Amino acid sequence: MPRSPHPRSSQPQRPRRQGDHRARQPAHEYVLEALPGLEEVAAAELATVPLARDIRGLRFWYPGEPERLTRLRGAVAVYRVRAWDVPRPRGLLGHQQLGELAAFLEEAVRLGGHRSFRLAAAGRESSVMARLADELQTALNLPFDPEEGELLIRLRPQEDGPGWEVLARITPRPLSARAWRVCNLGGGLNATVAFALHRLAGQRDEDRIFNPMSGSGTLLVERTLMGPSAAMVGVDLDPRAVECARANLQAAGRDVEVAQVDALHTGLPARSFDLIVSDLPWGDAIGDHRANAALYPAFLTEMHRLCSRQGRLVVLTHEIRLFERLLHEQTGWHARELFQVYSGGHHPKAYLLGKT
Ligand SMILES: C[S@@+](CC[C@H](N)C(=O)[O-])C[C@H]1O[C@@H](n2cnc3c(N)ncnc32)[C@H](O)[C@@H]1O
Repeated sequence: MPRSPHPRSSQPQRPRRQGDHRARQPAHEYVLEALPGLEEVAAAELATVPLARDIRGLRFWYPGEPERLTRLRGAVAVYRVRAWDVPRPRGLLGHQQLGELAAFLEEAVRLGGHRSFRLAAAGRESSVMARLADELQTALNLPFDPEEGELLIRLRPQEDGPGWEVLARITPRPLSARAWRVCNLGGGLNATVAFALHRLAGQRDEDRIFNPMSGSGTLLVERTLMGPSAAMVGVDLDPRAVECARANLQAAGRDVEVAQVDALHTGLPARSFDLIVSDLPWGDAIGDHRANAALYPAFLTEMHRLCSRQGRLVVLTHEIRLFERLLHEQTGWHARELFQVYSGGHHPKAYLLGKT
């Protein structure tokens, strides 16, 4: 087999100025994975990463510490990428390519401490993939676990070339699996979606924030990690949810009040909050559709009372028909759709409401 050229990603993208500290570390190419619908949120966050350059969508070159990338909150995964000039995956089994591939993956394992690996590719059941798994098992000295493997290795044809590229997720778990989550509840929100809701709701230090129906506290924890606010409180009817949110907040090292109170009967004065953000019961894992038909209009009325004149209400829901009908019927709110995301088998929509 002819010797294949060096993988593209090993070539520096731009000449560096002498004395530039960035020249000390080679740049690597990375790609972020976002939940479908949240690509722009992930891209906006990527734009704030110092040293990230040659950004094309969610792909970029980066010479800095990879640990910085593992702190991104709007993406679900970050992969290091490298391309090989081979016409099909079988080419990766060549002696030289396999050596390069193993070195590339070993570097990812050195960064992430993965204890097993898996392969994701079209035709992952094929004999070529089975051979690749065998070879990598030996080369990496890691067990192959096709379902739960921590080092997720994706193989796909190059978008802008004739070869194949390999993506290695640099963290053993998705970025959305936050370290603060010590308590999980059915219906818990993906932390990446919570981050996106707050980013698009606008982040203001002077906001008094209310999270009715706070569940396991995802929206509370994500907001408190983003920066200060004037006040923040969460409520939930379910005592297990209240305990769960408190445990997660404690694990995050944050002091936020969470009370077991009916969000519709808090007894709080009118206009107590500048930002109300809620992931309402969707009528499947949590609540039911008939109950939601009564809950949603009552919620909109009470939140209108609690929201300050210039305040914002952000709602995430899978009860899209019900919610949009109510927005038509209820005066007092103007609304704008923020995004529709695909997460956990659902397609909920997020809305930003203001008082008319
Ligand atoms: C979709 S879950 C919220 C999930 C949450 N965002 C999380 O990440 O875990 C909805 C929550 O609303 C709560 N809930 C339903 N009706 C309520 C009410 N009237 N007042 C307060 N909480 C309520 C339920 O107990 C449930 O925890």
